[in-house]
Amino acid sequence: MSLKDEILRLLENEKGIFISGESLASSFNVSRNAVNKAVVSLKNSGYIIESKSNKGYRLDGRNIKSSKYGIEKYLKSKNIDIHLVDSVTSTNTQLKREAEDGAPEGYLLIAEKQTGGRGRTGKSFISPSGTGIYMSILLRPAISAEDSLCITACAAVAVSEAIEEVSGKEAAIKWVNDIFCDAKKVCGILTEASFDIESGGINYIILGIGVNVFEPEHGFGEFNDIAGSLYGYSERNSETKNRMIASITDHFMKYYRDIANKNYLEEYKKRSLVISKNIYVIKNGAYIPAKALEIDNA
Ligand code: BTN
Repeated sequence: MSLKDEILRLLENEKGIFISGESLASSFNVSRNAVNKAVVSLKNSGYIIESKSNKGYRLDGRNIKSSKYGIEKYLKSKNIDIHLVDSVTSTNTQLKREAEDGAPEGYLLIAEKQTGGRGRTGKSFISPSGTGIYMSILLRPAISAEDSLCITACAAVAVSEAIEEVSGKEAAIKWVNDIFCDAKKVCGILTEASFDIESGGINYIILGIGVNVFEPEHGFGEFNDIAGSLYGYSERNSETKNRMIASITDHFMKYYRDIANKNYLEEYKKRSLVISKNIYVIKNGAYIPAKALEIDNA
């Protein structure tokens, strides 16, 4: 691990507490000058670090940039390999490349912003810097293509539970990949799979999750009526994002590791916005009016 990473990890773990340059230098067996250089480099890469003479350094409460170590502090799941980048076109697209290159299950790619975030049916997903969570998890499940359809439902329950745990807000699921809070969409899920034509099995699945944690500085523009956020713009901070990423991952892994038992189903039904509503069933391009009575186990 580089000195920069070592210092960042310590600052995340001791958040709010000043750590002197002298103790950092002796912990990592380097000079005070090397510590100073590493801190400057962290600041240049976007972390807000307070430096005070005679006291040392601490991660400022106003810091909004997430870090691998800030997330790991809360994460309970094993075998999750966090990769955090500042900017990417789409975490799903980038992770697909990693998957094709042989990356293992549990590779978690998170971006501070996306320049071409993708939603379902070719729509785009607004992904400004610092206000949202844009994450994709690589899965290599030994399940049938048909069973893989429940991954999105598992993720919808996991995100709802994480939102409730971290923000205390009630979350509801709209069929099957949108999460709503206070009647506004706060999260979208895009699950993409690669199938092996010969065996009919799955090569890999990319589970992409986008959460509007804080209101973007200029709102959601033309989507202001439907899109919402969990917190206001002025409430931005990295700790909430880090906790939310860890909580989403932990809740998802809890269901995923035991997917055959469909333990997520009851939680899904409780939060479903569809049960008892009039809906359309789209079959071969035709819209058939129907009423959703129940969600079965199939
Ligand atoms: C939707 O609302 O239709 C789904 C939106 C999914 C957005 C997430 S953000 C992380 C991942 N990368 C993407 O390009 N899309 C998903």
